[in-house]
Amino acid sequence: MMRKPVIVGNWKMYKTKEEAASFIKELIPHVQQASSRILLAVPFTAIQTAADAASETAIAIGAQNMNDATKGAFTGEIAASMLLDVGAQFVILGHSERRQLFFEDSAFINKKVKRALKEKLQPIVCVGETLQERQEGKTEERLEQQLLKSLKGVKAKDFDTLIVAYEPVWAIGTGESATPAIAEKAHSFCRAKIKEHFGDEAAEKLTLLYGGSVKPENAAALMEEANIDGLLVGGASLSVEAFKNIVNYKTLVG
Ligand code: PGA
Repeated sequence: MMRKPVIVGNWKMYKTKEEAASFIKELIPHVQQASSRILLAVPFTAIQTAADAASETAIAIGAQNMNDATKGAFTGEIAASMLLDVGAQFVILGHSERRQLFFEDSAFINKKVKRALKEKLQPIVCVGETLQERQEGKTEERLEQQLLKSLKGVKAKDFDTLIVAYEPVWAIGTGESATPAIAEKAHSFCRAKIKEHFGDEAAEKLTLLYGGSVKPENAAALMEEANIDGLLVGGASLSVEAFKNIVNYKTLVG
């Protein structure tokens, strides 16, 4: 099965509405012919503006987090239905910054994943080991644990939409990407675990992204790997020049 490549930009806590709109306007002519799906995870406050700017283009807009509840007394939180209401089509869940800085655990992330699936908001679920876990030889144990806990109760058919991103914590924002071989090893491990627990079809359909210091210079080599179906890009998604080159990684080869 051919899985369509997916390139996701994660803007984190950057860009106002105006900056979002002008970024998208500038990006559009460079990506209309791209063979990948293009997703931009923007700050909550820019979703509506970005979705309007990207409407009827190849770019889909999404969020970087949400709460699992439908509504209620949860000060400062945002529900899936609210994201859909302003034009979000997907949501990143369990990013390592959420796990580390905001103490989100896999059980909480699992509730969010189920809510997103129920509300038909495409979830991108992040997993990844820390440097210490890698050095202690615990990478696979950590990945398995995060995958199984975050995806508990998910059905095989959910892998039609559900995306998993492998983001080694030591590669995020450090400028030091995993080598294609290291990333591929983790990706093939993740796919094997999905196969073991959710079946052949789920594993075959699963879109697996790599994230962590992706740049125009390393995008094509990472995408060459059999189990890398796409990229989750932080820092380099803030510049139109860098992001368009990542989206068009195929034309940069050779
Ligand atoms: P980076 O971030 O590309 O800046 O390393 C990736 C991410 O956090 O998703």
